[in-house]
Amino acid sequence: MSMNSPKTYSIKNYGCQMNVYDGERMAELFDAQGMIAADDKNDADLVVLNTCHIREKAAEKVYSEIGRLGKTSRNPGGPMIAIAGCVAQAEGSEISRRAPTVDIVVGPQAYHNLPQMIADAAAGKKAVDLDLPGLDKFSQLPSLRKTGASAFLTVQEGCDKFCTYCVVPYTRGAEVSRSWRALIDEAKALVDGGAKEITLLGQNVNAWTGEDDTGKMQGLDGLIRALDRVEGIKRIRYMTSHPNDMTDGLIAAHGDVEKLMPFLHLPVQSGSDPILKAMNRSHSRDSYLVILDRVRSIRPDIALSGDFIVGFPGESDADFADTLSLVKTVGYAQAFSFKYSPRPGTPAADMIDQIPSDVMDQRLQQLQAQLMADQSAFNAKMAGTTCEVLLERPGKLPGQLIGKSPWMQSVHVLAPELGIGDIVTVDITESGPLSLKGEPDMRAAA
Ligand code: SAH
Ligand code: SF4
Ligand code: F3S
Repeated sequence: MSMNSPKTYSIKNYGCQMNVYDGERMAELFDAQGMIAADDKNDADLVVLNTCHIREKAAEKVYSEIGRLGKTSRNPGGPMIAIAGCVAQAEGSEISRRAPTVDIVVGPQAYHNLPQMIADAAAGKKAVDLDLPGLDKFSQLPSLRKTGASAFLTVQEGCDKFCTYCVVPYTRGAEVSRSWRALIDEAKALVDGGAKEITLLGQNVNAWTGEDDTGKMQGLDGLIRALDRVEGIKRIRYMTSHPNDMTDGLIAAHGDVEKLMPFLHLPVQSGSDPILKAMNRSHSRDSYLVILDRVRSIRPDIALSGDFIVGFPGESDADFADTLSLVKTVGYAQAFSFKYSPRPGTPAADMIDQIPSDVMDQRLQQLQAQLMADQSAFNAKMAGTTCEVLLERPGKLPGQLIGKSPWMQSVHVLAPELGIGDIVTVDITESGPLSLKGEPDMRAAA
């Protein structure tokens, strides 16, 4: 059935920061087409669900959200619905079969085709584009960048690692790096748009490679050093990294690049060598710990973060104990931990010896208790110290602003005289497991 061309849009992101970045680029594309962001997202003419397929729960959310939009074949008056992101790529036209009210299915590498797809959908044709052509989307999206004080910049997409539990190599395709020039230019555009901090993103961000302006091959450390010289950039971060791509140069950058923040998110998934092998992680417990030791030796205050999966097929009590002992050895400043979720089409989903759900629950609880204790202890060390905070957004209380410490902790600051984008010296007065509280340091302000 044909419908009017949408005039307003709303985009809902699920999953990782790469989706947040893609959501921003889609918004800029819609703005360039003359559409406007809906004031009330329940009232938008076009609703984009930018989806995640990483775990079953994440993927199922999409279908409940489609249902919530209230469009049915008998009541077709609802918004135009576009499914973007990794569920779109993984389930493809299956989505339109399961949810017939969906008008557009667009994979993560085909967003630049959305204007044509919207026109097709308005003319009553279902539009599906699941090509994985690599980097086309970036060069064809508008170069104008809307941003906050802290901006994301996708430098690399896709993954060639094929961990046996993971859908990303299938939903995002092979590893591709964006060009040096495009990234330097976009970083400058982000600074012009108000960004003080740039977080370089990629499913395997430290696999980024490219030729610089002189034709010399560079790795992520080279790119970070070049961004360090861009005026207006105050802070640089990157995520998510794979242990195997932690090069000597990147480790060294943590010692001598001033703007590179002392925070490293380096997922390990498990502390057990047999499980790491079955996961096809291609690093061992020891090789992972050696990397952390090297980073800590040149940047002793670095805050470490990781991802963990409990209940991978075949995980014994002893394997899980190895994960707990690794966590205790490292002392993470923060971490994400998940129950293993079998994903269709991945090798681990067909492995024998799947772990019962209640065992996974119990292990997850135990792991999370340890991680939370370590995070609280890390934060507790901050009370009574001063640190620099980049103010990023308003808090709930009047005059309150929320920002980040160099170590990625959220800091709540009561400072009506300050604004978003300011970097202030803050006296930390209180620490909790999830955030810190502080006041602007008057001596520093004087
Ligand atoms: N590229 C990153 C992270 C990708 S996905 C990396 O290699 O580390 C983010 C996290 O989701 C992973 O680190 C992993 O901990 C988790 N994850 C991925 N697949 C999963 C699955 N099938 N079940 C549970 N957790 C999963
Ligand atoms: Fe998934 Fe492994 Fe690639 Fe990370 S490295 S995205 S976990 S396949
Ligand atoms: Fe999810 Fe796709 Fe990111 S599966 S975690 S949105 S790469």
